[in-house]
Amino acid sequence: MKEFKVAFLGFGNVGTGTYKIIKENGSKIFQREGINITVKKILVRNVNKKRPVEVEPDLLTDNIKEIIEDPEIAVVAEFIGGEEPAREYILSALNNKKTVVTANKEVMARHWEELENAAIRNGCGLYYEASVAGGIPIIKVVRESLQGNNITEIMGIINGTTNYILTKMSEEERKFEDVLAEAQKLGYAEPDPTSDVEGYDAMYKLSILSTLAFHTRVRISDVYREGITNITPEDIAFGKELGYTLKLLAIAKKHGNKIEARVHPTFISADHPLATVRDAYNAIFIKGDAVGNLMLYGRGAGDLPTGSAVVSDIVNACLHQSKHMYSTLCNGDWKADEVLFDNNWETEFFIRMTVIDKPGVLAKIAGIFGKYGVSISSVIQKGRNSIHVPIIFVTHKAKEMSIKKAINEIKNEDVVIKIGNVIRVEH
Ligand code: HSE
Repeated sequence: MKEFKVAFLGFGNVGTGTYKIIKENGSKIFQREGINITVKKILVRNVNKKRPVEVEPDLLTDNIKEIIEDPEIAVVAEFIGGEEPAREYILSALNNKKTVVTANKEVMARHWEELENAAIRNGCGLYYEASVAGGIPIIKVVRESLQGNNITEIMGIINGTTNYILTKMSEEERKFEDVLAEAQKLGYAEPDPTSDVEGYDAMYKLSILSTLAFHTRVRISDVYREGITNITPEDIAFGKELGYTLKLLAIAKKHGNKIEARVHPTFISADHPLATVRDAYNAIFIKGDAVGNLMLYGRGAGDLPTGSAVVSDIVNACLHQSKHMYSTLCNGDWKADEVLFDNNWETEFFIRMTVIDKPGVLAKIAGIFGKYGVSISSVIQKGRNSIHVPIIFVTHKAKEMSIKKAINEIKNEDVVIKIGNVIRVEH
């Protein structure tokens, strides 16, 4: 049986989960695959800290050199997260001829070219299944199972924290701040929730997924991003009346040579398969010209689900030492010469505003929408017990820029007290 020594960089939640899986299921996995994998070293900040799993003390080190310079270590699994020093350590591991497995979406989304080029130069592998949607094997599916397709669309719930928050806001009619505080207490949201609630986490993941799906480097600067912090229970309630469910969606579409990639709160019909994805679950919906519609569903975070993806990568890294698979962009061209990144996409819009309740207001606002070529499909106006009333417009398909221009003009009208939220609607 071929022996492989693996080292971990970092030993937080996912590192511990990966270690547990190797301890509990390792002997069976390795017997089936005909290899033997041993964890030789684990890089930690404090070797004396108490850990949730039992680890032999001599496995732990706080010196990266003990890993990078150990010729026996064939695979390095990175769990540090964030940009630096993760990028630097991954690069040194690759330059020392070690295959790298990473769960790090930020480092992949930002530094993919540099890391993959280093892997190719050194004849090693770079595996990143755990970087997108935790336990859902989406990278493998896009890379290895959908080659026969022109993928034209990806629409996913790829951030569990925001899905948990929006589920609670919707089902329990609660405010964002209340649910966020509860999610932080339960460990579903980080003490600093910015990356999740402002959509950065989903932006990194969409950059990785759409790059693979469209065989074109989609950089994070090509991804439009908007978080959920301004969403109110009123938006969700009005959406429900219209038959919609609110989700933070990561959307990427390809039309000819145009690509649009965006992360934002989105209304979808309550009967869309993604609308049934509740709590911290993730799901990714893909359209291919051959396969048609496909959806993968599962846990997008957590020690064991994400560890499941990492263990699979480690096993594959060991099995394919002589022939690693790289992205389809590795032939040197990471530029996207023939592709236009489109920020003027077309979709339907839900627009909530507060206006003065008097005759002619609706006609005035509808007139401005009309001036910019935006057609209205429905309007809801509530209440007559105050002079200020909420009014909701839902448009037919319209261009993003036309909506922006119309709203800019509408907000200056005397009868308009406030523009609330503008939420895109997808089908
Ligand atoms: N914080 C992420 C989420 C999981 O809420 O889905 C790690 O990417």
